[in-house]
Amino acid sequence: MLLWRWASRRYLLPCPTWLARFLENPVVKGMGTQSVLDRLDLRPGMNVLDVGCGPGRLAIPIAARVGPTGQVVALDVQAEMLRRAQARAQAAGLENIRFVHAGAGQGKVERGVFDRALLVTVLGEIPDRRAALQEIFDALKPGGVLSVTEVIPDPHYESQNTVRRLAATVGFTEQSCSGNWLAYTMNLVKPER
Ligand SMILES: C[S@@+](CC[C@H](N)C(=O)[O-])C[C@H]1O[C@@H](n2cnc3c(N)ncnc32)[C@H](O)[C@@H]1O
Repeated sequence: MLLWRWASRRYLLPCPTWLARFLENPVVKGMGTQSVLDRLDLRPGMNVLDVGCGPGRLAIPIAARVGPTGQVVALDVQAEMLRRAQARAQAAGLENIRFVHAGAGQGKVERGVFDRALLVTVLGEIPDRRAALQEIFDALKPGGVLSVTEVIPDPHYESQNTVRRLAATVGFTEQSCSGNWLAYTMNLVKPER
């Protein structure tokens, strides 16, 4: 597992697209999705950035919650993941999702416009995690919240202390941490000033 973690960062190997089927499985899709959504405190009209959206497990229900006056930007480094998410958005009749094909931290995200951002089982796959967190920090409005979820079966699992340390280096302050070390969601705020 450690070798896979090292190799995936060293050689930029994100979660393989054949695993998208696993994430789309109704049982897996349901696992933790509701609690991640509830911990985001979403409201109609919000702008949400889903970094490493995969096949859209969260981007789709978020787009439904923020409604037509809100928007989701779903970013992923793999075109195949975005294609799957796009197909699901189309099937659900959702027109408020914009798909961005880019790596996190590569400067493809608008600054200062998002109310919420998510990194759900993604952070450990990102080669330059500090650049990614800096980009998300800059993309949020003051008072905006980044929600980081990690689950232990994921080979790229990042501990609460690692997330805390990395987040603090770019200026986030911790708002809450729910769950336990096996599966947790940490909400981090961009201070108002
Ligand atoms: C384990 S999947 C999680 C997908 C989704 N967040 C979920 O919870 O269902 C990790 C996703 O992060 C994406 N990813 C990996 N490295 C990335 C990077 N550097 N920038 C953007 N996305 C990345 C992968 O392509 C994959 O879709």
